[in-house]
Amino acid sequence: MNIRHFLNTQDFSRSELDGLLEQAHRFKQSRFGDQLRGRSIALMFFNPSMRTRTSFELGAHQLGGKAIVLAPGKDAWPIEFELGKVMDGEAEEHIAEVARVLGRYVDLIGVRAFPKFQDWSVDREDRVLRAFAAHSPVPVINMETITHPCQELAHIMALQQHKGAELKGRKYVLTWTYHPKPLNTAVANSALQIATRYGMDVTLLCPSEEYLLDSRYMEFARQNVAESGGSLTISHDPQSAYRNADVVYAKSWGAIPYFGRWDQEKPLRDAHKHFVVDEAKMALTNNAVFSHCLPLRRNVKATDAVMDSAACIAIDEAENRLHVQKAIMAALMRGRD
Ligand code: CP
Repeated sequence: MNIRHFLNTQDFSRSELDGLLEQAHRFKQSRFGDQLRGRSIALMFFNPSMRTRTSFELGAHQLGGKAIVLAPGKDAWPIEFELGKVMDGEAEEHIAEVARVLGRYVDLIGVRAFPKFQDWSVDREDRVLRAFAAHSPVPVINMETITHPCQELAHIMALQQHKGAELKGRKYVLTWTYHPKPLNTAVANSALQIATRYGMDVTLLCPSEEYLLDSRYMEFARQNVAESGGSLTISHDPQSAYRNADVVYAKSWGAIPYFGRWDQEKPLRDAHKHFVVDEAKMALTNNAVFSHCLPLRRNVKATDAVMDSAACIAIDEAENRLHVQKAIMAALMRGRD
């Protein structure tokens, strides 16, 4: 059977994404439904979570379904993903069995698997997610690996709530921010994809060329601009980037050329603590809304004043995770026996 997974928004047409968002807006109005009655989802967490776990578990429950949470290597057996491997290490079972066994029990599988942060040429292949998708007999949902498509939809939904349904032509600033540790590029990749997909004039603001995102996502953004009529600008200057912005979206990420050599990246990162989102920068904008996927370190990524201001819509975006994920689960279940 040809299974439709939810791995990346780029795999879905704009009208399909709009359909998911319309359903999410309906779920916001009316929380409960029976779209998952008798259905279940396994939530495979290889990394920690607060929002994703809570919203998927509750979302399944509110639609009449059941979620099972598993943390491989902690409360479930460690899994091997490499084909042909002599499994004489830590892993006790292979994805070929894990995905197929889960598929006999549940109707959906969610996967959160961050990069290992040692070798980007390996991490960029998204092996854990791709292996689940390859071996699973049921649809797989990306709960954040090297992109975060559920966050993308929650973000667009929040922007539509605050800036109107038509986002085309809005000035959107995706700003890198400082963080003491190198973080995943997933949300930044996702923000770049979805903001260009929705026709916004996107400025990618980062300290230097080293902080540009992987070429795959830069290319998706350029393709989206060509199709959606927005624009993509690279900036290393916060003052000009923030000027007249309608949306400021912040995220910290590690510089890809330094992947696995983080001690060498640290001085570069440490020199850009001033990328913090503060009132002075927000004052340059066109009454912009500010958001972040959360979790967020206050007064490192954004100041208390910005987080507590009316401009901050991060809590709305987090709430929307519940609505969009219900829409995704319901859509993936539609038409399946
Ligand atoms: N934004 C997000 O995915 O939050 P969690 O890491 O808490 O799930």
